[in-house]
Amino acid sequence: MIRKAVIPAAGYGTRFLPATKSQPKEMLPVVDTPTIEYVVREAIDAGIRDILMIIGRGKRSIEEHFGRNVELEDQLIAKQKTAELESIRTLPDDVRIHFVWQNEQNGLGDAISHARDHVGNEPFAVLLGDTIVESFEERPIIRQIMDVYQEHQEVVLALEEVDPQHVSSYGIVGGEPIDERTWRIDRMIEKPTLSEAPSRLAVASRYVLPPEIFQALDMTTPGKGGEIQLTDAIRILLADRSIYGYRINGVRHDIGNKLDFLKTSVLFGLKHGDISDEFRGWLVDLVAGWGER
Ligand code: UTP
Repeated sequence: MIRKAVIPAAGYGTRFLPATKSQPKEMLPVVDTPTIEYVVREAIDAGIRDILMIIGRGKRSIEEHFGRNVELEDQLIAKQKTAELESIRTLPDDVRIHFVWQNEQNGLGDAISHARDHVGNEPFAVLLGDTIVESFEERPIIRQIMDVYQEHQEVVLALEEVDPQHVSSYGIVGGEPIDERTWRIDRMIEKPTLSEAPSRLAVASRYVLPPEIFQALDMTTPGKGGEIQLTDAIRILLADRSIYGYRINGVRHDIGNKLDFLKTSVLFGLKHGDISDEFRGWLVDLVAGWGER
């Protein structure tokens, strides 16, 4: 059973400068909610109650966001602002969020290695803190991945099919399908060229990993960009165990990427109760009048 989730959120976010110079990209709001709160809700909805966030310099606001602000709560109670009060009481009482500090941003693999003491000797879920993955079914995306883990008890990676022009931005896998959505993976290449890519299936920001990943990370030397890559450590595990991929029933929104951030804001804005009608009307008028601009 998977009890713990790790959310890496210590990266610099250079693709989103200057906004990320002094604020975490994980706190960028989509409509009115910080990205990392969508990620935390996904883990909680999947049944996880123990969450470890990897943070670093400039990321204190993440800690503050998940702490309670009793003064603000009292103000909202006094003014009978119930909806607003609900919106800041984000965590069920039995959920525990812990933080660990990554001093140097040496890559995603290095960030995960900071979870070793907290995770101990059990498998765990990983959800990247800058990526919202929207599910098209009731099960949250990480639950879909955890369910495959329950069946195979091995590494499971969320997979999403990407357009050919985007394969060079992701970790791409190769392997054999074993059912409509599940793959047995035999190759992984980080950011391949289109001709190197064994498929168009990209690793999609959600994983279940066994504790052996920590030994593999110890053996991993700096790879692309001089960083310790999680993909390289998973490839070490591939030498003597099976790795599975699951083509998620959902869609990934990488908020660390400006274009995706804008698209996601529009998509979520169109669905948001407070503003959807007015926003939709404005958007329709904007598009209709586009030729006149
Ligand atoms: P990204 O690959 O998007 O890394 O990390 P980044 O370095 O922040 O982004 P750019 O390319 O400079 O814009 C995916 C997730 O892993 C975390 C990030 O915070 C993000 O949530 N991460 C990345 C770490 O926690 N530590 C790192 O050293 C790198």
